[in-house]
Amino acid sequence: MANCQMIHLRPWLASTLVLYMLLQNGGAISPDGEALLSFKNSIVGSDTVLSFWRPEDPDPCGWRGVTCDRITKRVVYLSLKDRRLSGPISADLGKLDRLRILALYNNNFYGNIPSDLGNCTELQGLYLQGNYLSGVIPNELGNLSQLQYLDVSSNSLSGSIPQSLGKLSKLVNFNVSNNFLMGPIPSEGSLTKFPDSSFAGNKGLCGKQINEACKNDNGPSNNSSGPLSALGQGGKKKYPARLLVSAFATIGALLLVALMCFWGCFLYKKFGRNESSSIAMDVSGGASIVMFHGDLPYSSKDIIKKLETLTEEHVIGCGGFGTVYKLAMDDGSEFALKRIVKMNEGFDRFFERELEILGSIKHRHLVNLRGYCNSPTSKLLIYDYLPGGSLDEVLHDVMPYTERSEQLDWDARLNIIVGAAKGLAYLHHDCSPRIIHRDIKSSNILLDGNLESRVSDFGLAKLLEDEESHITTIVAGTFGYLAPEYMQSGRATEKTDVYSFGVLVLEVLSGKRPTDASFIEKGLNIVGWLNYLASESRQQEIVDPHCEGLQAESLDALLSVAIRCVSSSPEDRPTMHRVVQLLESDVMTPCPSEFYDSNSE
Ligand SMILES: Nc1ncnc2c1ncn2[C@@H]1O[C@H](COP(=O)(O)OP(=O)(O)OP(=O)(O)O)[C@@H](O)[C@H]1O
Ligand SMILES: *[C@@H]1O[C@H](CO)[C@@H](O)[C@H](O)[C@H]1NC(C)=O
Ligand SMILES: *[C@@H]1O[C@H](CO)[C@@H](O)[C@H](O)[C@H]1NC(C)=O
Ligand SMILES: *[C@@H]1O[C@H](CO)[C@@H](O)[C@H](O)[C@H]1NC(C)=O
Ligand SMILES: *[C@@H]1O[C@H](CO)[C@@H](O)[C@H](O)[C@H]1NC(C)=O
Ligand SMILES: *[C@@H]1O[C@H](CO)[C@@H](O)[C@H](O)[C@H]1NC(C)=O
Repeated sequence: MANCQMIHLRPWLASTLVLYMLLQNGGAISPDGEALLSFKNSIVGSDTVLSFWRPEDPDPCGWRGVTCDRITKRVVYLSLKDRRLSGPISADLGKLDRLRILALYNNNFYGNIPSDLGNCTELQGLYLQGNYLSGVIPNELGNLSQLQYLDVSSNSLSGSIPQSLGKLSKLVNFNVSNNFLMGPIPSEGSLTKFPDSSFAGNKGLCGKQINEACKNDNGPSNNSSGPLSALGQGGKKKYPARLLVSAFATIGALLLVALMCFWGCFLYKKFGRNESSSIAMDVSGGASIVMFHGDLPYSSKDIIKKLETLTEEHVIGCGGFGTVYKLAMDDGSEFALKRIVKMNEGFDRFFERELEILGSIKHRHLVNLRGYCNSPTSKLLIYDYLPGGSLDEVLHDVMPYTERSEQLDWDARLNIIVGAAKGLAYLHHDCSPRIIHRDIKSSNILLDGNLESRVSDFGLAKLLEDEESHITTIVAGTFGYLAPEYMQSGRATEKTDVYSFGVLVLEVLSGKRPTDASFIEKGLNIVGWLNYLASESRQQEIVDPHCEGLQAESLDALLSVAIRCVSSSPEDRPTMHRVVQLLESDVMTPCPSEFYDSNSE
């Protein structure tokens, strides 16, 4: 996601490559790779996962369990849950100072939690539960100011909970249950808001969180043991727990998204148009007239005043077309502001005309473009804000412990697919002029608070395409979605969108990205894998085993639609109009198989 610049500014791409090659340093692995190898070397037992971590690779970014920032190649995510890993956790993980998520839960790690993890100051999620870790919880974890999720439950930790953890103001989940901890739970700061199940199973803890008075504690709960106050606490108990669960789904998701791209966008600014990096400068700096069109009930002045307050904190995403900020107006309305840095001359002329058209397209399943601003240095587009984030984030393990994919049962997945199909069908068949999306992928399907899907970024790919070359539209994240003929000719048609939609359906069904490592290992992508399974009549196996509420008949019908959409010849693919019909007639209300429509179109 964090590749704002690659798509439109090729000089940057070149310099990134140079940087990358320099980092490769004549074949030696990157420092993050070294740290991970040291982590690997301290492990004495595991399943096969680590055998694919090879010291001769230039960086660890292709290794299983490792996710890097696309631009900087720094490790941001290490996830090795349920891998039967045993051994100590290497202190060298502390060198991964861009790490955001460390998920080592449900393994057999033993030894101490290295205090060096306190050096990973960008850490947002630390999941070490379900191991045999002993010793104390290091004080240094209190330095992890970005931490939102801390779970060290079900280990053998002893000592007391460090006071420093009270400083972790962003925590939304905290769990130290089932250890051998003792002493008072910090009575100040963020640990006061967690329910007693966060602390349960530790015989020696005390504090008002667990309704257990501390002996010779000058603190808070000298008279909290009476029946009355116990009742009061008991009544409150459930509420925060439930609140937490929903906090996972919403706030957590948004915060994470915001931070996921922070580094990429930061780099963007650094190498880009440095000084005038604030949006307000963009808007007011040049002598241009600032125009806001569309149906925004605010004056330009109000909006510019808001723009002046935007900082990195408000970044919610960063894609091929630019950085996305969340814009909260004083009346409580929220918008997503997409900032596109201007790239070539002649663009301005198109921009306004095209944007007028895009702004006039309204549909339940399209993200509403509310307005735009054309400044000399950049373009600002204002969209409705969708609180559910992108399908990409909801579907894939961006945050391992939030169980968000569990939210997506069969009905929810189906509903998302149907919504996306309707949005796309509208662009293809009901708009004038017709619009080819060109960039259908899960990060461009956004979800509202009810998990209804909306297609975003329509019309942008064409608008921002480099005239001389189509290559620029092919971003890494888009790769797995592109139809074979599109890759060859660079010519987008409705049918290339249909192909991408088919890939999207497979992604939703399987829960795996189109170019997931498990496909690559077999020399395939998701479509190749489906075709292989289909050749053995095992296509159902592509479905995510975690998907609940699966219905066999509608699955079969959906798979047959998907198979047709990803057909290698464009003529064999149905139109989006037809796809919607099939989804509504066969998939939503499946009927016995003899009625399956086998050769329409
Ligand atoms: N209207 C919106 N409401 C809420 N979040 C949004 C909105 N628009 C974008 N985002 C967030 O910003 C992220 C980046 O969006 P953007 O469309 O710029 O990039 P992308 O989809 O990853 O890539 P590309 O630009 O190539 O389509 C999205 O994944 C989403 O999380
Ligand atoms: C973490 O920081 C401390 C203090 O700056 C330093 O001594 C230690 O070596 C660092 N650990 C790692 C693994 O880099
Ligand atoms: C990290 O935490 C330790 C102990 O809590 C403290 O002594 C140290 O100064 C902190 N380091 C930073 C960089 O904040
Ligand atoms: C903490 O973890 C235990 C399992 O180790 C679980 O039963 C409990 O519900 C968790 N509590 C919270 C608040 O997440
Ligand atoms: C109980 O705590 C209150 C403050 O919360 C304090 O004023 C009071 O003196 C304490 N009583 C006893 C008996 O310690
Ligand atoms: C503790 O008891 C005293 C009187 O005994 C009361 O005034 C005070 O409000 C109580 N404190 C708490 C926190 O319940």
